[in-house]
Parts: sequence; C-alpha cells; structure tokens
Amino acid sequence: MTRRILIAGNWKMNLTLSASLELAEGLKQKAAGFPAVDIAVCPPSVYVQPVAAALQGSAIKVGAQNVYFEKNGAFTGEISAEMLTDIGATYVIVGHSERRNILGESSELVNVKTHAALSAGLIPIVCVGELLKEREAGTTEQVVRRQFDGSFSGVSAGDMKKCVIAYEPVWAIGTGKVASPEQAEEVHAAIRKMVEAKYGKDVAEAVRIQYGGSVNDKNAREILAKPNVDGALVGGASLKVDPFIGIINGAV
Ligand code: 13P
Repeated sequence: MTRRILIAGNWKMNLTLSASLELAEGLKQKAAGFPAVDIAVCPPSVYVQPVAAALQGSAIKVGAQNVYFEKNGAFTGEISAEMLTDIGATYVIVGHSERRNILGESSELVNVKTHAALSAGLIPIVCVGELLKEREAGTTEQVVRRQFDGSFSGVSAGDMKKCVIAYEPVWAIGTGKVASPEQAEEVHAAIRKMVEAKYGKDVAEAVRIQYGGSVNDKNAREILAKPNVDGALVGGASLKVDPFIGIINGAV
C-alpha cells in the first residue's frame, strides 16, 4: 500500500497576520507543482481563518496547533474542534511536546482532544517523542509506547486509519540536531508495529507517521526516503517559502 507523504508546517507562535498571508500566497503559487504530496500549514489559531481563505483553490490544507476537547461552554480561552472546522481547518496538531512539556499536557488530555478532533471531522496529528535523557537512558521505545497507548486509547480502527502520528524527538526540536535517518526509521518502524499490534496490519499500513525535529531542505530527502517515514512536521524551516518548498521537493 502506498501512503501519501504529508509535509506540514507548524508555524508555532510566529509571524504577524500580514507575514502569514504573504507566506501563504508564496506557498500557494509554488505548491501547485507537487500533486503527489499532501501539504498543510498550521498557523496560530487567530490566523487559521485568514490563511485558509488565502489558500482557497490551492491544494494546501490548513491545520490548527491545538484544540479543546469540549464542544462548547464555559472554557475561557479554549477553542473547540467544531470551531476549527467551521473556519476551514482540516488538521489539528495534538500533544506537541511543547504543550506536553511547557503546559503539562498529559496523554489523557491528548487522548480526549484526539477523540474531539475525530468527532468533528478533523485529522489529528498526534505527536510523540522522547526527551534527550530518555534516549540516553535507552527508554525511547518505552516512552513512545506509553504516549501512543495513552493518546490513542479508545480510538476505533476506522478512526485510527485517519490519524497522523508525528514522531518528534524532543532533543531534535529547534536544536538543529536532526535525528539520523536510521534513528528516525527505527522509531517509526516501532510505532508502526505498535499500531499493528493494536489494530492489525491493514490499519498499520495506512497510518501516516511523520518525522519532526530540525527538518530542513538539506536533510529532508534522506529522512523521507526511509520506508516508514511518511512525511515531516516542520517548525523553523516552514516559516519561509523556499526552505519549505525545498522540503516538499525532497519528498518527490
Ligand atoms: P523545528 O523544525 O523547528 O525543529 O520544529 C519541529 C517541530 O516541533 C514541529 O512541530
């Protein structure tokens, strides 16, 4: 089975409205040349709607960086999955390590957010990944397994097929220290085995597993060439047109 590569830009808490629109316009023109690759950008939530409007008519989809798990109500500052679909989001990043580590999000919270996203028809990009000290202690697979089990608890096989998993080793995020293609492939293969053990081969073959952590236009091709790497979740290098297009180019 062939999985479509998904290259997604996580803009994190960067850019102004005008810079977001300029980036979207620049990508829109150049991304047309990659029909075989799925492309998404995840701006800050306040820019999701204008960026989605700017990208209308292009193949680039828009995602949010977070979602709340309740449908509506007295949850000051939060945004529901329905609100995100309503303003044009297709994807939502759930459980990014910056949320897990800075804001203390647990896999239980990631799990209810994943369910909420799926119920609203959003595609969750669920992030997992170990800290440097966990890698050095040889516990990478254990940590990722715990995050995988917790984050996808109660998710049906049909829904699991729609999910995207992003393996983002925390030590590689924003550090310029990219995982080697072999290191990435090893963990990606282990994650696919976890999916297979829980959901069977069919689902495991369908689920896309992205790599994230210091991906740029120089290292993307080699990482994306690995059989279990189905895309990239890109931070810093997604904030400018040419490096991001270079990464997409590395996928073909
Ligand atoms: P960098 O590409 O800036 O390392 O960020 C990776 C990331 O966290 C994407 O979600």
